[in-house]
Amino acid sequence: MTPASGGPRRGSNKPIERRGSSNVSSRRQSIDPSRLVRMDKVTHVGGTDNFNVVFIGAGNIMFGSDEGPWNHSFRFEHKLGLRLKVVAIVDPAVERAKDVLRKKCDSFVVSAYQATEVYKNFEEFLKQRDSSQRINAFLIGSPPMFRGTTTSGRDIEMQIMKHFPGVAMFIEKPVATGPKSELDEAFKVSKSITESGAICSVGYMLRYLKAVQMMKQIIEDNGLTVMATIARYACAYEAIAKPDWWDKSKSAGPIIEQGTHFCDLSRYFGGEVDISSVTAHSLEWDENAGHLSKMSIDESKIAPENRIPRVTAATWKYDSGAIGSFTHVATLQGHNYSCELEVHADGYSLKLVNPYVQPMLYIREPGDDHERMVTFPDDDPFFSEVSNWIDIIEDIEEDPDAAQILSSYEDACRTYELTWAIREASERSRAAKLAASNVKVEST
Ligand SMILES: NC(=O)c1ccc[n+]([C@@H]2O[C@H](COP(=O)([O-])OP(=O)(O)OC[C@H]3O[C@@H](n4cnc5c(N)ncnc54)[C@H](O)[C@@H]3O)[C@@H](O)[C@H]2O)c1
Repeated sequence: MTPASGGPRRGSNKPIERRGSSNVSSRRQSIDPSRLVRMDKVTHVGGTDNFNVVFIGAGNIMFGSDEGPWNHSFRFEHKLGLRLKVVAIVDPAVERAKDVLRKKCDSFVVSAYQATEVYKNFEEFLKQRDSSQRINAFLIGSPPMFRGTTTSGRDIEMQIMKHFPGVAMFIEKPVATGPKSELDEAFKVSKSITESGAICSVGYMLRYLKAVQMMKQIIEDNGLTVMATIARYACAYEAIAKPDWWDKSKSAGPIIEQGTHFCDLSRYFGGEVDISSVTAHSLEWDENAGHLSKMSIDESKIAPENRIPRVTAATWKYDSGAIGSFTHVATLQGHNYSCELEVHADGYSLKLVNPYVQPMLYIREPGDDHERMVTFPDDDPFFSEVSNWIDIIEDIEEDPDAAQILSSYEDACRTYELTWAIREASERSRAAKLAASNVKVEST
C-alpha cells in the first residue's frame, strides 16, 4: 500500500477538495513512519490516464550521478509506472538532455520518454509545445541560481504559475542561491505559490527518513519540548568535483548549498529560529589549519574571496528558547559523508547517525541510561518525498492519515534565510578577526 492509497481519487463522485501547499502547514507536520514504504514494496499509483510531467533541468538530481543516491526520474518511473509521460525536458544543455533521453529510450522505461521533447529554455517550450496537452506537474531541478526570484530568467516558478496556474511543482533545495539582498524575492515567490494553491513540495528529503519520522513520533507521543538541536555535517570533499561548489560566487557556499539539509532538519525539530541570534565562525582556506590535500578541482582558478570555508560552526536561539548548533566541515576524503543530528528534550536524547548512507537512530529515554539503537535498512527518502507529493496530487479528499508534504516552499525559504544568516555571521567574525590582527600588526 502506498502511504495515501486510501480515500477517493479520480472518478469519485465526492466534491474535489484539493490540498494546496497553503493549507499543508495547518496539517500534521509528520508522517507515521510505518507509512513510509520502500520503493520495491509498493505497486505504482493507481489509475490509467497519463501523468504528464515536465522536467526543468536534466542534471544529476534528475537522472542520477556517482556522487549520491539521488535520481528523481528513477523514482517517478517506479511511482507512476506506465502512467508516467515525461512530455518535455527544458535544459540549455540540449545535448546532455538528449543523451539521457537516448539512454532511457534504450531501456524498459521507454514508454515514459519516447515522445519527450527537449527545449533549450522555457520560452521555447511555451511556443513549441502541444498546447492541447494537459500538464500534471513540473519537476524543477535546475541550479538554484536560476530560480527563486521574480527577475526575468531566474523566475521559473513565477513563469510556471503564470502559464499553468495551479499546476503542481516539485522544487529542489535550496530555493535560491542569489545574493542575500534577494532573500525577500524568495518570500515573494512563496506568497505567490501559496496564493496559487499549487501543490508544491521542496526537496528536503531528509525530513522523509523513517528515522526522522520516528524521532517526531517519540516527541509527539511523549509531549516533549525540544531543548537543543546539535547538528554536524562532515562532507567527503575529495568526491566533490564540481568547480561551482567550491566557488561562493556560484553556489553561495557549503552552508547554503549543502549544510542547508541539516539546517532544515534542525528547524524541523527546533521550530522557528531567532535570526538575530545567529553567531558563527569559520576556518578559511588561507588559515594555518585550512589546508586540504586532496581537492579534485584546481582552487587557484577561483578568486580568493570566493573560496569556501573548510569549517563553519554556528549557534542560535529558537523562538521557543531552545538552542541550535550546527557545524559543517569539508574535511573527509573518500566518498561517504558523516552526518549526525542530536535532538535533546527533558529525559530524552535522539541521535540520528549517518542519514545519507545507512540511517541509525540512538534513543535514550527516562529509566534507562543506555542508548537503544534502531536501524532502517533500505529506507529511501528520495522515493518517499516524491511518492507523498504525487499521492497528494492524485488524492482528492482530506484524510488525516494521508500523505503529507513535509517541506513547503515557505518553510524552505526560512531555511534559506537561516543559512544566509550563518554565512553572514561567519563572515562578520572573520572580518572582525582580520581587522583585529591588522591593528596588532600596525601597532608592532
Ligand atoms: N536533495 C539532494 O540531495 C540533492 C542532490 C543533488 C542535487 N540537488 C539539487 O538539485 C539542483 C540541481 O543540482 P544538480 O546536481 O542536478 O546539478 P547539475 O549541474 O548536475 O544539473 C543542472 C542542470 O540544469 C541545467 N540548467 C542550467 N540552467 C538552467 C535553466 N535556466 N533551466 C533549466 N535547466 C538549466 C544545466 O544545464 C544542467 O544540465 C540543485 O539545487 C542541487 O542543490 C539536491
